[in-house]
Amino acid sequence: MRHDHIISAKQLSRADIEEVLDHAADIAEDPAAFADRHANTLLGMLFFEPSTRTKMSFTAAMKRLGGDIVDMGSVESSSVKKGESLADTVRVVEGYADALVLRHPMEGSAKMASEFVDVPLVNAGDGAGQHPTQTLLDLYTIRENAGFDDLTIGIMGDLKYGRTVHSLAHALTNVDARQHFVSPESLQLPRSVRYDLHQEGAEVREHTGLEEVLSELDVLYVTRIQRERFPDESEYREVAGQYQIDSDTLASAKDDLTVMHPLPRVDEIAHDVDATDHAKYFQQAHNGVPVRMALLDLILGGEP
Ligand code: NCD
Repeated sequence: MRHDHIISAKQLSRADIEEVLDHAADIAEDPAAFADRHANTLLGMLFFEPSTRTKMSFTAAMKRLGGDIVDMGSVESSSVKKGESLADTVRVVEGYADALVLRHPMEGSAKMASEFVDVPLVNAGDGAGQHPTQTLLDLYTIRENAGFDDLTIGIMGDLKYGRTVHSLAHALTNVDARQHFVSPESLQLPRSVRYDLHQEGAEVREHTGLEEVLSELDVLYVTRIQRERFPDESEYREVAGQYQIDSDTLASAKDDLTVMHPLPRVDEIAHDVDATDHAKYFQQAHNGVPVRMALLDLILGGEP
């Protein structure tokens, strides 16, 4: 892996992506072979926003490689409460750990923090910005189920504030996927993301209704409306509850449509979808462990 820090999906080439995914597949096949790979290695966990999957799967990944974590804990119980800057916090914690994982509400925070440290820093979500490791496990799941060849994907929900969407859309340009974005007008892709996709030559269409494209899709990636990022709660209420799917919605979909969601879901996917063969979102969440093991191994420079 030629990158010091993992900040954005934009930095990942097709070769980088394949390297992580292939390595993750090897790990998934025989995890025991990697159990002592990074004994005595410590991963510093800096989570300034809630997290279940990302934090727990990074923790599981580090431990399954033989290492351990040092965790800042909640913001409430840390020196952040005393007014410490993010730059100072990361400079301190790099002395306690061999790599850092940062989640922070401010867009651009991971990039900024990475400029203050020498150990590898991984962005685990910076506000409405990027979430590159989610993208790697999303790509792993897509490759497993639909493959990358001739791929048509629909990405639905909160495209404005959803960082998993921003990262995934960039990464998908590497595999020449046809991307259909489905959202209310007020939650369309930010102009900057749309501009980058255009520059990268992505094949992109925008829709306000899923029925316009559903039957063409190989993958449907559903996202949660990011309530916590709305400056005004009334704007959230205007769009809440729209863009839900249930098993009836999927009647006109391809038989082998893969339905994904970064989770947590609120009400976007009815529970009756869970029992269908389309539902891959729990498998997707579980893929977070081998994929993060692979990424950690590569950035920590494990012996082959
Ligand atoms: C996502 C996130 O934090 O951006 N969660 C995750 O990491 N799986 C998606 C979300 O919160 O909606």
